[in-house]
Amino acid sequence: MSHILIVDDERGIRESLFVLLSEEGHNIDTASDGMEAWQLLKKRPYDLVLTDIRMPNMTGLDLFEQIKEKFAEKIPVILLTSNGSVETAVKAVKDGASDFIIKPFEIEQLRNAVNVALKRERETLKQSLKEQEVHSRRMENANKRLDQAIFELAILHETGKTINSTLEINKIVSIILEMARQSVSADRARIILYKGESKDVLMDISYSVDDTQASRYLTLDSYAIEWVMQRQEGLLLEDIGRMRLNEPDFWTCSGLGSLMVVPIKRKNQTIGIMLITNLPGKKKFTEKDFQFISTLVNQASIAIENAQLYEELQDHFADTIRALVAAMETKDSYTFGHSDRVTRYSMMIAKQLNFSLTEMRQLEYISLLHDIGKIGIEEEILKKPDSLTRKEWNIVKNHSVLGGSIVKPIKFLLAGEEIIRHHHEWFDGTGYPDGLEGENIPIYSRIISVADAFDAMTSERPYRKSVNDAMALAELRRCAGEQFDPKMVELFIKAYQQ
Ligand SMILES: [Fe+2]
Repeated sequence: MSHILIVDDERGIRESLFVLLSEEGHNIDTASDGMEAWQLLKKRPYDLVLTDIRMPNMTGLDLFEQIKEKFAEKIPVILLTSNGSVETAVKAVKDGASDFIIKPFEIEQLRNAVNVALKRERETLKQSLKEQEVHSRRMENANKRLDQAIFELAILHETGKTINSTLEINKIVSIILEMARQSVSADRARIILYKGESKDVLMDISYSVDDTQASRYLTLDSYAIEWVMQRQEGLLLEDIGRMRLNEPDFWTCSGLGSLMVVPIKRKNQTIGIMLITNLPGKKKFTEKDFQFISTLVNQASIAIENAQLYEELQDHFADTIRALVAAMETKDSYTFGHSDRVTRYSMMIAKQLNFSLTEMRQLEYISLLHDIGKIGIEEEILKKPDSLTRKEWNIVKNHSVLGGSIVKPIKFLLAGEEIIRHHHEWFDGTGYPDGLEGENIPIYSRIISVADAFDAMTSERPYRKSVNDAMALAELRRCAGEQFDPKMVELFIKAYQQ
């Protein structure tokens, strides 16, 4: 059923058209001139307008022009004309009106003109719907692509930000692994880093949704890695199950669905490899995924190189400190190796506390240097087999303050001064130099204090014999809460037993 608007100033014509078209099953409104018709058109859409040309107020032609101008969707208009205005009607048809009918008209003629105009209108509508559909499908695809691009950009940005905020290589590699895996919806991602050109493995970290399956792919991984290393280019196998290969069907037997391997390069040298896989039935990696992972890896390689350089620098720094400490310890054969052992024990506690790599490094350096203040104490006092005089004891006690001021200029050691200064404080507040109590003593100092005491007890000293480990542990426990932080004592004992 169509909605038709009849416009004529002659009431008789209006009414007969109304009857005729209503009988055809159409829904009819009428207006007596262009103005009134225009008001109705503004209120609701019509499928067809049948209008007389000559009318008061607004003519049929003006109405037609207005409909053409104001409605984006075309409403078909049939003009009713008398013999005198046929020319005008012909011109209007040329300008886009559907048809014209000369009054008086045959019923059949009118019926035909209406049906043709409505049919044409329906087809136009159908066509425009089809075009709209195509357009919206195009828009939908473009939006999807845009969303994906935004997602990838966000991942690249986030990865860049995170990996550049740390110099810990483990952290960097873990972040890249997780970002890569998530961004291409992979089951498994693995990064192997090599030591320089030697191709010895420096680090091999993988993340798998199902870790129990990881070992299944080791042979396949080495095959893929060899392939990439030989050619020095990436490898993308989108759909392994559908591959046709001349060589033995190694890939298809692998039980994998899709695979990507991308070399991690720095200045044309392959410093590692990233491998990403999915099981059959999961997402198949596309060329776009491969490009994205290559970009991610490219960005990561700079951060990895920086972290490697930084780690080398740290190693040099640690070596320098060790050399310095060793030189100091040669003054006193009894304490030789003490700093190294204290460092080892401190690290055992720190591991239980889940210290980060950076915190572990800090603790390592500071533990090594904790007694550096003894460098300024005379050998005679340090090696004295008898009890010390009050004056000598005060000199010895001053080593923690002295040690603190020695490391103060080393910016890299952050709170080194404070930690060394307080490594002889007691948990109950009766230690030196400042009588700090409980958790007011820096945690690093509380750790070193336990490690230091254990090594002192288990090593021979000029003024006393050593005790065995069990006795030393018992002594630590006895003094927990007084000299030592009970938590650090427990963690040390736990680590020692492990
Ligand atoms: Fe000390």
